[in-house]
Amino acid sequence: MAKPKSQYRCVECGYRAPKSLGRCPGCGAWGSFLEERSDGGGSEAAPPAGVLPLAEVDAEALPRYSSGSEEVDRVLGGGFVPGAALLIGGEPGVGKSTLLLQVADRVLKSGKRVVYVAGEESPQQVKLRAERLGVSPRLELMRDTRLDAVLAGLDAHAPDLVVVDSIQTLESEGVPGSLVAVRNATQALVRWAKASGGTLVLVGHVTKEGTVAGPKVIEHVVDATLYLETAGVFRVLRSAKNRFGPVGEVGVFRMEHAGLVEVANPSEAFLAERPLGVPGSTVGLALYGERVIALEVQALAAKSPYAAPKRVAQGLDPRRVDVVLAVLERRLGLKLGHLDVYVNLAGGLRVSDPGLDLAVALAVYSAVMGRPVHPQTAAVGEVGLAGEVRSVTLLEARLREGRRAGFERVLGPGALPTVEQAVREALA
Ligand code: TYD
Ligand code: MG
Repeated sequence: MAKPKSQYRCVECGYRAPKSLGRCPGCGAWGSFLEERSDGGGSEAAPPAGVLPLAEVDAEALPRYSSGSEEVDRVLGGGFVPGAALLIGGEPGVGKSTLLLQVADRVLKSGKRVVYVAGEESPQQVKLRAERLGVSPRLELMRDTRLDAVLAGLDAHAPDLVVVDSIQTLESEGVPGSLVAVRNATQALVRWAKASGGTLVLVGHVTKEGTVAGPKVIEHVVDATLYLETAGVFRVLRSAKNRFGPVGEVGVFRMEHAGLVEVANPSEAFLAERPLGVPGSTVGLALYGERVIALEVQALAAKSPYAAPKRVAQGLDPRRVDVVLAVLERRLGLKLGHLDVYVNLAGGLRVSDPGLDLAVALAVYSAVMGRPVHPQTAAVGEVGLAGEVRSVTLLEARLREGRRAGFERVLGPGALPTVEQAVREALA
């Protein structure tokens, strides 16, 4: 029999070459070639796969355990799933290691076995930080970054949860951080998780574009991808992909001396510094992930030195803000032609939600007129081109959150069908 021939394939774009190349001519990735044998390797004699009627699948049976953090559990969709793999991405310094040490500690204290693979920092550095965070000294650290050694160690220790901080530090075939090494490590660790029933958490660095650095294959093989991001003084954990829970769900934290602290009531936290009785400030009820939070919308209008006045929107969709400004001008006769207009979502969050339109309209109107919006008023609704206030998704939940957060009046679609009526109601 002829010796099977080797071929090489780029793990990023699939480009094939007769030998391994330093840089892929197809997509420009470095160190991305992997050997592939042309005999198809072991496709014969696989036992026939069985089938299972859907009715016999017990969806309730997904066993989960708590991460010990309500916010993390919410983003995960109810806690960690045994055998599942998840990826946490975020910029350096955002708090990934801090959050995971805190989670590791709580899972450990619930009686489970946890291994923390510390590839980024020395055991001394990890210990110093762990002491500051009050992490149990029983937490088991693994310092080795050779993939084979890590896998053998995991087999020996059989943890319920393993945190790999970070996936870019693991070495396979002698090189850490290359596309092939990251891909090999991810695939091997995910296989370990599936086979052992342990939960795998991979920490990943992000690129300048904000996505996890490394081969696309990482995001394909993990069950969930979460991002930890900065929003003003807060840290926001967000699910970008989740096979076991909602996508887009968010958890809110604050970085303090003793680590990340959960912000159980984001509405109050985001409204804490709201000035009362000042023109140009009002509260909108926005959809943030799967929940509603009350956020302050601020506007400032100033005489423009330019022929074409400036329109600046921070944290909000600038196209929506433009539509609202046009409606105020054309339908309510508000004169904006000579004014620079700045609109800002306080607290540093970025929210793209048409439900904030009415709050933007009220804030701008209030700023231009120099009259404050009644402080006990919150607003919700999309602004239509005819100047009407339109309904938005989860209107009931938004009205409920408005009342819960203590607002006496929530202006919205239904009772106040036009922006003009809402404005008249809102200005104190
Ligand atoms: P870190 O978890 O190391 O970030 P990452 O792993 O995402 O790179 O967090 C680093 C920052 O957090 C660092 O600037 C110090 C700060 N920090 C606190 O403010 N309080 C704390 O208790 C800890 C542990 C860190
Ligand atoms: Mg870190």
